[in-house]
Amino acid sequence: MSWQVLIQSDVVPYEPITRLLAASDCCLHWWRDAEPPRDIDYSVIDGIYSYGHFPVTRELMERCGRLKIVSNFGVGCDHIDQNGARALGIPVGNTPGVLDAATADLTWALLLAAGRNIVTGDHFARGPGFQKYDAAVLLGQQVTGATLGIIGLGRIGYQVGRRAIGFDMKILYHNRTRNASAEADLGARYAGLDELLQQSDFVALNCPLTPETTGLIGARELALMKPTAVIANAARGPVWDQEALLTALRAGHLHAAATDVTYPEPLPRDHPLLAEERLVVLPHLGSATQQTRDAMSQMSVTNLLAGLKGQDVPYRIA
Ligand code: DGY
Repeated sequence: MSWQVLIQSDVVPYEPITRLLAASDCCLHWWRDAEPPRDIDYSVIDGIYSYGHFPVTRELMERCGRLKIVSNFGVGCDHIDQNGARALGIPVGNTPGVLDAATADLTWALLLAAGRNIVTGDHFARGPGFQKYDAAVLLGQQVTGATLGIIGLGRIGYQVGRRAIGFDMKILYHNRTRNASAEADLGARYAGLDELLQQSDFVALNCPLTPETTGLIGARELALMKPTAVIANAARGPVWDQEALLTALRAGHLHAAATDVTYPEPLPRDHPLLAEERLVVLPHLGSATQQTRDAMSQMSVTNLLAGLKGQDVPYRIA
C-alpha cells in the first residue's frame, strides 16, 4: 500500500526529510510554485506535508478527496486553516517543544545584536571609517540588570525568560492567560500590554500569529516604548506593523530593533526596511540549528505517517 502525499515546498527540503519519506511507503507529489500544480490528481491525495509557509486552505483540504493528515514542518501553523481542518475532521500535526531552545537562543541573539550594535559594529570594523579606537562610538544599551518584557510566554517565551535570569533581568510578561508556574520559576510579573511596553528596556515578541496578535504592535504601541528600548521579533512578521516600526526607527524613537521574520517573506530586495541601519534582519533562522532541524524532521514525518495509518497523531495542534 502506498500513500499519496502532496509536499508543498518551493525549495529542496532538508535532506533527512526526503530520506525518511523515501524509507516509508509514500509516493510524493510536489507543489513547488505559487499556484497549485495542474498535473496532480488531488482526489487520491492521502496526506499534505507542509514545508515552508504555503497556505493550506480549506479548499485545498476539501479538494484532496482522501485526506487523512496535514503535517507541518514547524510549530507555527498560521498558514494552515486549522478551523477548516477541524470542521473537516482532518488532524494537523506540528513540531512543538523541540525548537524552543534554539528559538529562544536566537531571540537573545536578536536582542543582543540590536542592543549592542553588533551588526553595525561588524560593518564599521571592516570599513574605512575604523581608523582609531574610540570609546565613544556605537554605545549600546545595557542588558544586565535591565527589564525584559516578553510578549507571549508560551514554551519559547519561557525559555527566553530563563536565559534572562543569567543577565539579572527583571522580567515582565504579557500573555493570553497568566502563567503561574513561569511566574514562580522566573520571578516574572504579568503586565498589561501598555504597561509592559512602557517599562521594558528590551521587548521580545514570542507569541503565535493569531487574529488577536496580528498588528499587536503598531504606531501607538511603539510610541509607548522608551526611546532607548530595543524590540525583537522572533514570532511572525504581521505581529507588528512594519511600516510603523520603520517610521519609529527613522524618527530616532527606539534604540534599535531586530527581526527574524517579515511580511512578505522575503521582503522585496528594494524594501526600505532593508536599508534601515538600526534594524537587524535575519532570514527566519529561529529554529535553524542542525540538531533542531533533525528533531523537527523526525517529528513531522512521524506525525505524517501516524495520520496516514489512521493512528493518533502524536503532536497534534488541530
Ligand atoms: C516554526 O516552527 O514556526 C518556524 O517559524 C518555522 O516555520
